[in-house]
Amino acid sequence: MNAKALELRRQGVDVIALTAGEPDFDTPEFIKEAAWQALKEGKTKYTPPAGIPELREAISEKFRRENGLEYAPDQITVGVGGKGVLYNLFQAILDPGDEVILIAPYWVSYSAQVELAGGVPVAVTTEAEAGFVPDPERVAAAVTPRTKALVVNSPNNPTGAVYPETVLQALAELAVKHDFYLVSDEIYEHLVYQGRPFSPGRVAPDHTITVNGVAKTYAMTGWRLGYAGGPKEVIQAMTKIQGQSVTHPTTFVQWATARALSDREQSRKFIETARAAFDRRRRLVVEGLRGLGLPTPEPKGAFYVMPDVRRIDPDELKAAEILLERARVAVVPGTDFKAPGHVRMSYATSEENLKEALRRIGEIL
Ligand SMILES: Cc1ncc(COP(=O)(O)O)c(C=O)c1O
Repeated sequence: MNAKALELRRQGVDVIALTAGEPDFDTPEFIKEAAWQALKEGKTKYTPPAGIPELREAISEKFRRENGLEYAPDQITVGVGGKGVLYNLFQAILDPGDEVILIAPYWVSYSAQVELAGGVPVAVTTEAEAGFVPDPERVAAAVTPRTKALVVNSPNNPTGAVYPETVLQALAELAVKHDFYLVSDEIYEHLVYQGRPFSPGRVAPDHTITVNGVAKTYAMTGWRLGYAGGPKEVIQAMTKIQGQSVTHPTTFVQWATARALSDREQSRKFIETARAAFDRRRRLVVEGLRGLGLPTPEPKGAFYVMPDVRRIDPDELKAAEILLERARVAVVPGTDFKAPGHVRMSYATSEENLKEALRRIGEIL
């Protein structure tokens, strides 16, 4: 859909893209300055594959302060984006045929990365009526002797769900009971509008790998830096894989990230401003879509919303095509997220764009 939208734009058609998986803000100045400072100081050479000690210290402190997680610096590794970290992780823990439980609708890279490591993705569905929150009993029913891991992503891409603490606790207990890994992808942790994020690694520290990154929190998608904390043997295996592939993320980006994570005051200011803007847009979009008669579960976090578009067409691919061709609004069909009848809209764009997109959708309806 993105390629189609770009092609239409190239032809001079005015398309509003609600496809972006990234904040529309610029990276805060204090982080850019830290990168520039690192460059000026000649921090341009190789680093250890797990990352510079200063960054791992800052991550360890961040996990303790913000998440109540105790990871020593040697239980931390960095990677080329959260995506790079997850790639290393699946390569490290999966043998061919190992199963990984994913909560659908899910971010498409999980299933692709599991398959690239020879694993088998096993989807457990959730319903819009339940706010896309998983039922731990349903997850338990999907566990087999080949289950190697369960991935949870709260706040969630693509649904915007924020799982209650009790649900995350139950899932962590399941990981301990059946001795599999719990992969907790917390990349959207600061973009929560209702409820509170909870790190299940607090309940199951020996079974959980907590994955995070700077992309969404600090509008640093292009900088490519992610990190993970977890059991030492898993972290070491991930680092070994990285050492023989990309070696490590860019050196001055690591220094800038250390600054982002340790300058609490400037971080807080930026995050608060971004969160308030996303929250205004979230309410605008949810009210707007509901007003148009498209059932829309209220997202509690991240910057996505998943309306039911069966009123436009029962097939979400067709609905997305109609929205693009007739309303000139690009969205992502739910198909690859395993969300039939739904599309994903990102509200990481201006209120003006969002209002115009709603107006256009209203017009075709
Ligand atoms: C759920 C989820 N996890 C991880 C990532 C990876 O982010 P990055 O590799 O930019 O750090 C994304 C990006 O879209 C995401 O949506």
